[in-house]
Amino acid sequence: MKMETRNFPDLNALSRAALAELLRIAQEAVEQRGRFAIALSGGHTPTKLYALWAEAGKHERPMPWGRVHLFWGDERCVPWDDPLSNYRTARETLIEHVPIPVANVHPMAADLPQPEKAAEAYESELRKFFGGEPPAFDLQLLGLGVEGHTASLFPGSPALEEKRRWVAAVEVAAKPPRRLTLTPVVLNSGRNTLFLVSGSAKRSIMAALRKEPDSKPSQYPAGRIRPAGNVLWLLDSSAES
Ligand code: 6PG
Repeated sequence: MKMETRNFPDLNALSRAALAELLRIAQEAVEQRGRFAIALSGGHTPTKLYALWAEAGKHERPMPWGRVHLFWGDERCVPWDDPLSNYRTARETLIEHVPIPVANVHPMAADLPQPEKAAEAYESELRKFFGGEPPAFDLQLLGLGVEGHTASLFPGSPALEEKRRWVAAVEVAAKPPRRLTLTPVVLNSGRNTLFLVSGSAKRSIMAALRKEPDSKPSQYPAGRIRPAGNVLWLLDSSAES
């Protein structure tokens, strides 16, 4: 699969480069559309970026936090203060450290007893913010699982074939199994997408993605996210095949 990649010696360098891209995209979005809407990814890889963003937001070219809107690409169905919560991770590394208005933070209500209802509620929140069209996030951050998942779209998931809904409640082969995820309807509308991939555990899935022909749909969810907008893969040397 053809991919635009940039390689970095380690996760710190990768995160600094991701921050530079984020700040550039944020400035362009605020200038052109009056706001910067970003879909955050979960997992461990982006936490360094979030901490760097919180730090940079205080100094260089202070972020117009009143114009920044945080959304999530996926969320685990756990309480918000659970260590497995993607919201909790972003709150601890970023949100608590910056003056972003509460109304600009749009977490998925993944702790609701009925995930399907939470998925519908999040789609309504997206519609309220973006209007009727599938939302084009100014930036969507995505990670890569060792078996090729991204957001909480896992291999074989029916959500991969979703053509209408923007958010799906899914059961996945990972801990915790119940999650909410943006569907390809949204993720394939993004203006800018950054995949952040770090660690030797991701080496073989990166090699598998690279080996795939562009002529047919990828067998991996991450390979199925092919928005018309810019897609950039940031890899550290241990993930580079
Ligand atoms: C999640 C993420 C998921 C993540 C990958 C990589 O909720 O788990 O959104 O898609 O990005 O699993 O996770 P690591 O960064 O921890 O390797």
